[in-house]
Amino acid sequence: MDFELKTLTRARVCTEKCDALVVLVPQDFAEGDDTLSVLIESATQSGDFERKPGKLLQAYRTTGIVATRVLLVGVGEGSAKNVRTAVTAAMGAIKGGNAQRMVLCLSLLKDAAAPQMQAAVVACGDAAYSYSATKSKALPVKLQRAVVAVSSAAEAKPGYDKAVGLVKGIALAKEWGNRPANHATPVMLAGAARELAKLPRIKAEILGPKEVAKLGMGSFMAVARGSEEPLRFIVLRYDGGLKGDAPVVLVGKGITFDTGGISIKPASEMDEMKFDMCGAASVLGAFRALGELQPKLNVIGLIPSCENMPDGKAIKPGDVVTSMSGQTIEILNTDAEGRLVLCDALTYAERFKPRAVVDIATLTGACVVALGAVRSGLFSSDDALAQSLLSAGERSLDLCWRMPLDEDYADGLKSNFADVANVAGRAAGSVTAAKFLQRFAGKFPWAHLDIAGTAWKSGAAKGSTGRPVALLLDYLLEQAAKTTVVAKAPAKKRVKAVRA
Ligand code: BES
Ligand code: MN
Ligand code: ZN
Repeated sequence: MDFELKTLTRARVCTEKCDALVVLVPQDFAEGDDTLSVLIESATQSGDFERKPGKLLQAYRTTGIVATRVLLVGVGEGSAKNVRTAVTAAMGAIKGGNAQRMVLCLSLLKDAAAPQMQAAVVACGDAAYSYSATKSKALPVKLQRAVVAVSSAAEAKPGYDKAVGLVKGIALAKEWGNRPANHATPVMLAGAARELAKLPRIKAEILGPKEVAKLGMGSFMAVARGSEEPLRFIVLRYDGGLKGDAPVVLVGKGITFDTGGISIKPASEMDEMKFDMCGAASVLGAFRALGELQPKLNVIGLIPSCENMPDGKAIKPGDVVTSMSGQTIEILNTDAEGRLVLCDALTYAERFKPRAVVDIATLTGACVVALGAVRSGLFSSDDALAQSLLSAGERSLDLCWRMPLDEDYADGLKSNFADVANVAGRAAGSVTAAKFLQRFAGKFPWAHLDIAGTAWKSGAAKGSTGRPVALLLDYLLEQAAKTTVVAKAPAKKRVKAVRA
């Protein structure tokens, strides 16, 4: 979908030619004597329209309004969350129809600040996304264009630009998440990274089995052994900051299919393990948005990608492997493979002397049990980093929730045959997985996002959500803003950046 930002006052909205005019109506909206106000007023008084979030009234060829269809949608007190609810409801009503060009009118909102703008544009983009990569007849998408109408385009521009960049990132993450494993192999993910490197300031470096062996990534290689598909280790760079500025490193789990390996998973819903690379997809999505928005900071993206398959060559329960860090790992369950590929990527991250490392992974079923599909699990050894990620999630409506990392949780990872085992008991499974990762993240501020419950939806709406691209982008842009303040400071000598 193409977006356009336009200044349209309440009166001007009525003369704007389009197929569908979606008007967000807040609870406290003060009516004027323009056509739109009169319509809202009479619809409210008759009881046919309520301004509660998501309440919808549709009108067709209304006198005094040029748009073919008018949709009034309530947004209650106008919070970003309500805006999202409202736009999602409106999109549901117009998506299947004939509308090609819509106007999304935020002009009645008292506060159309960045969070509201972002919520509106992202909800619009989310609804407009449609998967077609492996369908023989792509469904014709009628709705092509959304004009976002505000009372001052100049004021709204920064928030709008960010939101449009974010929509592109989310769409890319969804697209790779959704593609079946035979259409999203490690080699193909590396191709997606190479494609991103066409954007300004982005570079991609792709390592294959030989290079990975040379680095000593014995844990990552152990997982890849059972598959005919060769592994890839993807290194993305976004150089928006000053040379030598410590980067933020994003690490995405890129298991393109997780059968469980020799500790094989039950057959039911195993198809959903094509989504086991959604962490990787979120890193690709974040880079897509960075390429679009060009913020002033350095970011590295690391994606260890392979399949987890059972095979004559596959790792067996009880096998001991040596990770890149030198720590030996007893693989008691081959289905706990995510941590085995991530641990070597975390060790690799050390070379960048990062200001922070955030890994993103569909890591544990236990996290789905703990937090469901509402909030991603957040684990961090660093309070400031945890706080930054939590608030980025709140701002972007891409929520997470902090989980504990008490040392006692690591007890179950003890092994008689190696430095550490890759699984503990059933209890607190998402925490013991994080404790395993923490052993490899001692040299930098680190956070881990377990997105097992939030990265995709099951059932009739089966599909990738694009989460947590919004959270990541909000966090990265906040880091860039901090850097810029320091870089702009009038000083003779270059000021060394101080960061949370
Ligand atoms: N990719 C799965 C986690 C997963 C499972 C995500 C179900 C979403 C839904 C991961 O590789 C895995 O299999 N984890 C195991 C760990 C266990 C063996 C300790 C799990 O959660 O069952
Ligand atoms: Mn697994
Ligand atoms: Zn997995």
